[in-house]
Amino acid sequence: MTDFSSCIGKVVVITGSGSGMGKAMAKTFADNGMKVVVADFNPEAGMKVVEDIKAVGNEASFIQVDVSKEEDVKKMVDFAVETYGKLDGIVNNAGIGYPETPIHETPMEYYDRVSGVDQRGVFLGIKYGAEAILKSKNGGFIINTSSNGGFQGTEGMAIYTMSKAAVINLTKTAALEYAKHNIRVNAICPGTTKTEIWGMAPQEYIDSFCRNVPMGRLAEPQEIANTALFLASDLAPYLTGTTITVDGGTNSGHIRNVTWKNPEIDK
Ligand SMILES: NC(=O)c1ccc[n+]([C@@H]2O[C@H](COP(=O)([O-])OP(=O)(O)OC[C@H]3O[C@@H](n4cnc5c(N)ncnc54)[C@H](O)[C@@H]3O)[C@@H](O)[C@H]2O)c1
Repeated sequence: MTDFSSCIGKVVVITGSGSGMGKAMAKTFADNGMKVVVADFNPEAGMKVVEDIKAVGNEASFIQVDVSKEEDVKKMVDFAVETYGKLDGIVNNAGIGYPETPIHETPMEYYDRVSGVDQRGVFLGIKYGAEAILKSKNGGFIINTSSNGGFQGTEGMAIYTMSKAAVINLTKTAALEYAKHNIRVNAICPGTTKTEIWGMAPQEYIDSFCRNVPMGRLAEPQEIANTALFLASDLAPYLTGTTITVDGGTNSGHIRNVTWKNPEIDK
């Protein structure tokens, strides 16, 4: 039996946990005995997640945060320690996209906002999160949500993909800096996942991403949350500095649909 009991009583902050995969992580972590600080820009969404977690007898608290703002991130981490007495882990998950735009037409406000959340926000989360975990003196974990887009360019998404690539390398440096203090730092790279990040995008546009997915479907938020739970638990004690793709094989290469000589094997 898979045993996640090492998670019981652990205190974790999850940014962007009012929605999508952060919400799935918050509920999954809480279901496994963690005390979860739900940190999100959107108070209604974040407080609803806390309500849902408490409704099934688990523990969570909400704090509003804009992860691109240093004072907010510091306040968020202080809140976790004041509320629960320590910090064991932080998931730097909040992220935003923007309308596809070629580089030469990109307004610099997009650059400041998107890299502010997707790159600076993760740096700030590690900066203040690591300090609080170090002070708690029991090791811990940091999980950063990058993206499949962190490995390769995507037309029209320069700021997003460069920020997500930065998160992968930042994860490695942070892993080196904190390994001797038993703080494991890892990144998750989801493929296209069914969350609210897609906003009002037409369904056929979202579905078009399936064409590049060897498994032929998009990810469910719960599939990302399950990976995060594994990384947070003592089932991954020697795993640090790594990047786990949860993308149905997308990052493995190119789909060619090669014809089989003996297709009946699949019947
Ligand atoms: N959904 C996908 O296809 C996909 C694929 C790869 C990576 N990702 C990444 O996964 C992470 C989570 O995305 P999601 O799909 O669950 O998105 P989502 O839009 O469903 O949830 C993101 C949450 O972050 C919050 N948020 C936005 N800006 C914030 C800020 N400045 N400070 C604090 N909170 C803020 C939002 O209010 C929202 O609740 C992001 O980093 C995203 O880039 C998503």
